Amino acid sequence: MPSETRSFAIQGRSDVVVAGSQGRRFAVRHGFDVRRATELAIVVSELASNIVKHGVRGEIRLLWNSETGEIAVEAHDVGPPIHDMQLAMTDGYDDRGPIDPALILRRGGLGTGLGAVARLADRLEYREEEGGGKVLTAWFVAR
Ligand SMILES: Nc1ncnc2c1ncn2[C@@H]1O[C@H](COP(=O)(O)OP(=O)(O)O)[C@@H](O)[C@H]1O
Ligand SMILES: [Mg+2]
Repeated sequence: MPSETRSFAIQGRSDVVVAGSQGRRFAVRHGFDVRRATELAIVVSELASNIVKHGVRGEIRLLWNSETGEIAVEAHDVGPPIHDMQLAMTDGYDDRGPIDPALILRRGGLGTGLGAVARLADRLEYREEEGGGKVLTAWFVAR
């Protein structure tokens, strides 16, 4: 049972910044050191920016579970599903394959966000919801 939950609506760039800094504070409050809390903030920012770029709109939820000593960062959005999660997590790839280098500047992203999320989190899970929408969950264990 999570003992504290916070939610942030994500619709635009400024929401990404707020969620990131609130994520850092949330982690510090629950005993994470500054370095790990900052890594959690990076993950929140990457997932939130993906909501803005690819997922239309959504929500970041932070869930602290005092029994397991874990924070779950959930990124919910209403946009299209991720076609292939394995490809999407590969640096320089979108969810269908390699990103054309000629498009990198124009598209505003290197295709490295989910790779960074996967490396920084202790665990990452992707789930599609019945009736549309999806959730990416990144776990952080206090240590
Ligand atoms: N919330 C999302 N909704 C739909 N597709 C997504 C979402 N997040 C990521 N993706 C897909 O996964 C790919 C890789 O994401 P990422 O590594 O963050 O790269 P970038 O955001 O630079 O494209 C994206 O290009 C997109 O195809
Ligand atoms: Mg991204």
